[in-house]
Amino acid sequence: MTKYLITSALPYINGVKHLGNLAGSLLPADVHARFRRQTGSEVLFICATDEHGTPAELAAAKAGCDVAQYCERQHVIQSDIYRRLNLSFDHFGRSSSPRNHALTQHFFARLEQNGFIEERTLNQVFSGADDRFLPDRYVVGTCPYCGSDRARGDQCESCARQLDPTDLIAPRSAISGAADLEVRPTRHLFLRQTAIEGELREWLSSRSNWPPLVTSIANKWLNEGIRDRCITRDLSWGVPVPKPGFEGKVFYVWFDAPIAYIAATQEWADADPARRNWKSWWLDAPDVRYAQFLGKDNVPFHAVSFPCTLLGSREPWTTADIIKGVNWLNYEGGKFSTSSGRGIFLDQALELLPADRWRWWLTANAPENSDTDFSFSRFVTDVDHDLADTFGNFVQRVLSLVESRYGGFVPGEGLPSPGDDDLSTRIRTLLDHLRERHEVLALRGTADDVRAIWKAANAYLVARAPWTLLKTDGDQAASVVRTAVNLVGICARAAWPIIPEAAEKVLGAIGDLEAVPAFPSTDHLTRIPAGRRIRHPGPLFAKLGADWAATQRQKFTA
Ligand code: MF3
Ligand code: ZN
Repeated sequence: MTKYLITSALPYINGVKHLGNLAGSLLPADVHARFRRQTGSEVLFICATDEHGTPAELAAAKAGCDVAQYCERQHVIQSDIYRRLNLSFDHFGRSSSPRNHALTQHFFARLEQNGFIEERTLNQVFSGADDRFLPDRYVVGTCPYCGSDRARGDQCESCARQLDPTDLIAPRSAISGAADLEVRPTRHLFLRQTAIEGELREWLSSRSNWPPLVTSIANKWLNEGIRDRCITRDLSWGVPVPKPGFEGKVFYVWFDAPIAYIAATQEWADADPARRNWKSWWLDAPDVRYAQFLGKDNVPFHAVSFPCTLLGSREPWTTADIIKGVNWLNYEGGKFSTSSGRGIFLDQALELLPADRWRWWLTANAPENSDTDFSFSRFVTDVDHDLADTFGNFVQRVLSLVESRYGGFVPGEGLPSPGDDDLSTRIRTLLDHLRERHEVLALRGTADDVRAIWKAANAYLVARAPWTLLKTDGDQAASVVRTAVNLVGICARAAWPIIPEAAEKVLGAIGDLEAVPAFPSTDHLTRIPAGRRIRHPGPLFAKLGADWAATQRQKFTA
């Protein structure tokens, strides 16, 4: 039987992430993991914090603490936020773990044995005042083309030209502002991706049904020509390079971060070695189907660089069967930005509302085929309509009827009427479609289908009007209400991967809660027996309203 390995791009450690990170990788991966669990498959859902690199060092320095301590603290903060968002990781690890250090060094050793590592000398900017080499983007100065005085050594943001640090006029360190910079030679290690290119192309062509966005980015990289890649840095925070002459250097963060998908699985297994086996997921594991979820800027690293690491090791590692890459979520017409604090950060989001509304909106509006613009007014209109007026209202009407007319017990009278066959056919079609949308990782499609199921359930209730039947045909009324209670269950199960909290509340109310609620089928139309005690859960989603949207918008743009 196929086992499903699922990873989300690892969020950087430097600060709480924003809604864009949730929409782009964490949430779609979680929805998919939940769906696969619902259908009874064996699932392993892995994530971790991405802790190395200059941004982590600088964030630590800014926070006035040691980088290891900083990462430890931020890891706890991020884990707690993801728990509150109901992200159901089997393990949330850290790229700075001992396991990842060892595994990164292992990959390096294999690549070196296989002749894929080459030493080269580079000329890099050294800052005397900072006593360190500066990565290109940490050299700032005046752009030789447009005169902007805030150009970076890799690019000028105002005219978008690519730059080299030596192009800058009056260069200085972005870290200290110091101007005593000099260009010094330094030794580095390159991964000879050009030598792996043939195998990489073969691997890529063995993969099918990737989203067009991912394929087009991967092809663009291939067509522009694969290049050898520098995998070391002159930094102290990171995985040390285990090679004489490279003391004091570490691997590039993008070399060790994806390896942490595997290392985090090792950590998961370490926690219960008698029952868990990481190799059965990652080494020589033909029964594993591996899906990676990530934003479009991450595609080259997952479609080209990381596969080169895995293939170049000449060991039978699991590689991605599918890469689900998505576009950007924008914020009220502009970009979300961690560094400039623009947008809604996940801790703020959770202070405003619990997870389900965010999860729903970000799935229903996932930036799949183009960028999506988040705005408070669209958000409120959508969640009020879908969650309060459609799902919430249906549950409310049905369970209130059970309470007011049947004393809180599912009524037993009446036989199903012929009209229920149509309902069954309709529900079967909708559920088949929903399952298929999940299987092809269509995010918006899953929310569309869940909404369609809710609407079909509402339509049934309106068409059969049990409150009218009650006056004329008590048996019929009871039969319709019983079916409606079962529809409540189907609606909740169908929604569970997207809005687990509300779904579980509803399933609990009808006495049908399981740790993983099975994917619904038409059998569930007669699952809840007559006589079952129903406990009304109270309103699920209070309406937010346009005023709320306006208030938040003002608060967040102030
Ligand atoms: N931290 C990266 C980002 O947020 C993603 C790293 S994914 C990994 O863009 F595979 F490298 F871990
Ligand atoms: Zn410029």
